[in-house]
Amino acid sequence: MQKGVLIVFEGIDGSGKSTQAEILLKRLQTKGIDVVYFREPSQGEWGRKIKKKALHPDSLTPEEELDLFLKDRRENVEKNLKPALKKKTVVILDRYYYSTIAYQGAKGIDEELIARMNKEFIVEPDLVFIFDIDPHKGLERIENRKKKDRLFEREDYLVKVREVFRSFRGERFIHIDALKSKEEISKEIEETALRLIA
Ligand code: ADP
Ligand code: TYD
Repeated sequence: MQKGVLIVFEGIDGSGKSTQAEILLKRLQTKGIDVVYFREPSQGEWGRKIKKKALHPDSLTPEEELDLFLKDRRENVEKNLKPALKKKTVVILDRYYYSTIAYQGAKGIDEELIARMNKEFIVEPDLVFIFDIDPHKGLERIENRKKKDRLFEREDYLVKVREVFRSFRGERFIHIDALKSKEEISKEIEETALRLIA
């Protein structure tokens, strides 16, 4: 029988994680597995607020950012993740609390503190894919999506964010070389996910 498992995709912007989350979603659906996809920032009230604010970079202090991401995550955990996992559905999640540790941590907030604040209410994931790429190459991939005039500042920042992502170690983490082909990466991810679900 299928287990309810939480599979998280993490990495800096342009690393290709959303592409792979979508490929895995479709592969599992084809196999008749009960699976759903969510992302953070979510579609909820706080997630929408975050997206609006993100159009004006630096309009929030790092602490205000942290507060909004935590509020959004609480909502996502209660409304989306817990009900799906209870029904033994496989949950694919595009960004989770590791993004907060990496992105808000890279802005100077203590990483341990961010982890503790999250652990008060989150559901721990079973598997975390971390996509690793040179920020310059990641930004090149999404050039048309982001404002070019902020490119260098962003790149500087993403170098720090990447370092935090690279520092996560443990059984649940799988670090992916995001420069590999989409096919090669999707094969590895599918095999790992199927082993977990079986
Ligand atoms: P993210 O969600 O990490 O920001 P996306 O999945 O949206 O990244 O991918 C960003 C861009 O890079 C897209 O145009 C996508 O087609 C492309 N891309 C994704 N994976 C790869 C890959 N392995 N090799 C080359 N290009 C890729
Ligand atoms: P989004 O447009 O969803 O980016 P992507 O397609 O790359 O996932 O915006 C999410 C942005 O928010 C992204 O730059 C990372 C950032 N973020 C944080 O800073 N902290 C967090 O806790 C989360 C979940 C995201």
